Amino acid sequence: MVTEVVKINRDSMDAKLIQKAGRILQNGGLVAFPTETVYGLGANALDVDGAKKTYGVKGRPADNPLIVHIAHYDDLKEIAQNIAPVAEKLAKVFWPGPLTMIFEKRALVPLGTTGGLDTVAVRMPKDKIALALIEAGGGYVSAPSANISGRPSPTLAEHVLEDLDGKIEMIVDGGAVDMGVESTILDMTVQPPMILRPGFITAEMLEEVIGSVALNRERLEESDSKPKAPGMKYRHYAPKGSLSIIEGDLPMEVSAIQKLVKEKQKEGKRVAVIATDETVALYPDGIVKNLGSRKEVAGIAGNLYRILRELDQEEVEFIYSESIPQEGIGIAVMNRLEKAAGFKRISAETILL
Ligand code: TXA
Ligand code: MG
Repeated sequence: MVTEVVKINRDSMDAKLIQKAGRILQNGGLVAFPTETVYGLGANALDVDGAKKTYGVKGRPADNPLIVHIAHYDDLKEIAQNIAPVAEKLAKVFWPGPLTMIFEKRALVPLGTTGGLDTVAVRMPKDKIALALIEAGGGYVSAPSANISGRPSPTLAEHVLEDLDGKIEMIVDGGAVDMGVESTILDMTVQPPMILRPGFITAEMLEEVIGSVALNRERLEESDSKPKAPGMKYRHYAPKGSLSIIEGDLPMEVSAIQKLVKEKQKEGKRVAVIATDETVALYPDGIVKNLGSRKEVAGIAGNLYRILRELDQEEVEFIYSESIPQEGIGIAVMNRLEKAAGFKRISAETILL
């Protein structure tokens, strides 16, 4: 299959191209498209074969459910039931936007799309291209991140091409995504609603609208128990090299990383550092990647996956990353970084002993 890449300008969208992409979805094909979080791999969510194809090209386990993307709030009622008033409130405030909510599903949604679950995850993205495509594609578009399972999510059309060239009908190239970290997932079937995946919409932001929400930290850790968001149990976003997160106060993290880089270089290894604006000048050795300023963690979120992919291309064997404070969007950044590291954390103090 030849994958067609079409560039679409968000501010003067070519309606013909959107219609063409929409027809591919309606006819059972796959189209990757930008959302404000990451690029998604779109298929018709109401067609079992769409889900099957999606799992196939991603190499994704079939028990890992897909998010159904909609373009109009009222469409939610066709695919979900027992929608609580608090969900309606959240939708009013955060949709369109990077919030996914989980509801009891209606029969219209095939079990193939939900990984066999009787619940369905629904999101209304903000990106204009995404909204236009969902509409053109029939209104219900399933879309996991458009990467091969286990690789970092794509924040550029080039990343999608790297992973899925020749496997899907079309890539809609809308340039770099806005945010770079996947949506917050909130389970609305439990009381209080529970965050299953942290994102740009933080617990504090949700609580301002509906009162208490739960963030089950256990779900963020590696565990053998059956996780509520099946995707969270898989190692993810993982670069090919061995990534470790160094923990301590920042000056100690820097000293520990300097020491680790020297040691690995002595062994003849290719080593990289994931640093920040504030520290990047402190690393004279190794390949040094800059996440951006600690004062602007949203920017750090936007750079993370691109940097993880670059480290693969540069065939780095060992990667040491600084930690980012776990507050606000920093919680989502560290959640992804920890998964990328396979939860390998090293205390700076022990390195410096
Ligand atoms: O920002 C996003 O959400 C992006 C863009 C493309 O919209 N999509 C995305 O999809 O991140 P994906 O498939 O890469 O991640 C979806 C996560 C998985 O961890 C999956 O297990 C969980 O959502 N999920 C989906 N449906 C669920 C359900 N019914 N119950 C629990 N977890 C669910
Ligand atoms: Mg994903």
